[in-house]
This record gives sequence, C-alpha cells and structure tokens, in this order.
Amino acid sequence: MRLFIAARSRFAEDALDAAVAAGVRQLVVLGAGLDTFAYRNPHSAMGLTVFEVDHPSTQAWKRERLAAAGIDPPPSLTFVPVDFAQRTLTDGLRAAGFDPHRPSFFSWLGVVPYLTRENVFATLRSVAELPGGAEIVFDYGDPPSALPPDERAAHDVRAARVAALGEPWLTYFDADQLAADLRDTGFTTVEDLGRSALAARYFGAPANTPRQPGAHVVRAVSSTRQR
Ligand SMILES: C[S@@+](CC[C@H](N)C(=O)[O-])C[C@H]1O[C@@H](n2cnc3c(N)ncnc32)[C@H](O)[C@@H]1O
Repeated sequence: MRLFIAARSRFAEDALDAAVAAGVRQLVVLGAGLDTFAYRNPHSAMGLTVFEVDHPSTQAWKRERLAAAGIDPPPSLTFVPVDFAQRTLTDGLRAAGFDPHRPSFFSWLGVVPYLTRENVFATLRSVAELPGGAEIVFDYGDPPSALPPDERAAHDVRAARVAALGEPWLTYFDADQLAADLRDTGFTTVEDLGRSALAARYFGAPANTPRQPGAHVVRAVSSTRQR
C-alpha cells in the first residue's frame, strides 16, 4: 500500500512535468487532502498555478493545520472548496479563476474509491469537456472479487475500517471496461498501470512480471487537448 501511494504520486508528477514542458500552466489537485505539491511546486517560476479542490470540511481542517505549522500558502495556490456530491467541479473552478479555455492537468489521487460511479463520471465528463483540453491522473482498485483469498480478506478488513470512519469505499473498476468508458466520455489517450507495471517501472521488478489484480493508476488525455 505504501509503495503504491509513493508510485501513484511519482506517476502523476512525472506526467505533470511532461504537461508543463508542453505548455500547461494550470494544475488542479482534486480531493487534495494533505497533498504537499503546492508547497514545493517546482514549476512556480514557470507560472504553474495550483487549484486545490477538496471537500469544504477537509480543506478547512488542512488550512488550520497549515497555519498551526507556520506554512503560508504560496501566491500560486488557490483553495477551491467543493463537495463533488453537491456541486459541479466546473462551477467551483470557474468561481476560483480557473480558465477553461487554457489547457490544464488534473491530479485525482486517493479519491475515486470514495465516490459513487455516477459522481466519478460526472467529474470525468466535466474534465473531458473543457475547451482548453485536459489531462487527468487518478487511481482505482480492481473489484474485490478479482483478488486472491488472502488479499481479499486484507481488503475487507481495510474496507470495514474506512466505512467505520464514515468514508466507505464505494467504487471499483475493471480495467478494460474503464478504458472503454473513458473513451466514450471523451478521452483519447488512456494509460493504465496496474501493480506489476508500477513495480517494473519504479521498483526494479522484471518487466515480464505477470499481471496481478489490485490498485491501478490511470492517465487519460481529453480529445480536446492538442499535444
Ligand atoms: C484518502 S484522501 C486522499 C488525499 C490526497 N489526494 C492523497 O492522495 O493523499 C481522500 C480525499 O478525498 C476527498 N473527498 C472525499 N469525498 C469527497 C467529496 N464528496 N467531495 C470532495 N472531496 C471529497 C477528501 O476530502 C480527502 O481529501
């Protein structure tokens, strides 16, 4: 789990580096939680602005924690409080000064499992329809039924724990179906790395390691984005 969390951030930030090199200057961190990118933004001198979108209560708590730690939000950062279940992403972003006509990059890590499938695709549609073009990176899990018995048991314990905290996991995807649905939603390039591919790319595992079910990270580029 810890390696996956490190790998998904590396994957997202590598894709962001390439997007910035191609001219993107707007990053939206969706469901930012305690994400630290905005406070170590290596592209701020290039003019990369960061929009941290999060549930209003989580964002208010983060801002209290930042203040308590003496960390000033940088001028390149804008906070955007949005509950994905209540308000559309695009409305919230526009109100915060995001320009939908300029290209953008969305990082959406550790959030999709907590949303309904309907809310996930409502957000993906909003991103795919941006006239300036957009790229998004997010992560998800294979359905628990695809896991071997020991991993299924470990998954069920973690799922019960997050549900008891009031934040149940609601959504899983099958990789092939998700890729088809992303294309139907308006994304062209779809890159999906599962556990074995991540282990090969970042942790020195052999490239021919058999595919294993578990967590995935996906990069999708909208058809409106020119690269
Ligand atoms: C597990 S944290 C992930 C935080 C961070 N992106 C990371 O990778 O460490 C889940 C995040 O999803 C956000 N979230 C969950 N449901 C949400 C909703 N309905 N609207 C907005 N944000 C939501 C939470 O506020 C929280 O910041």
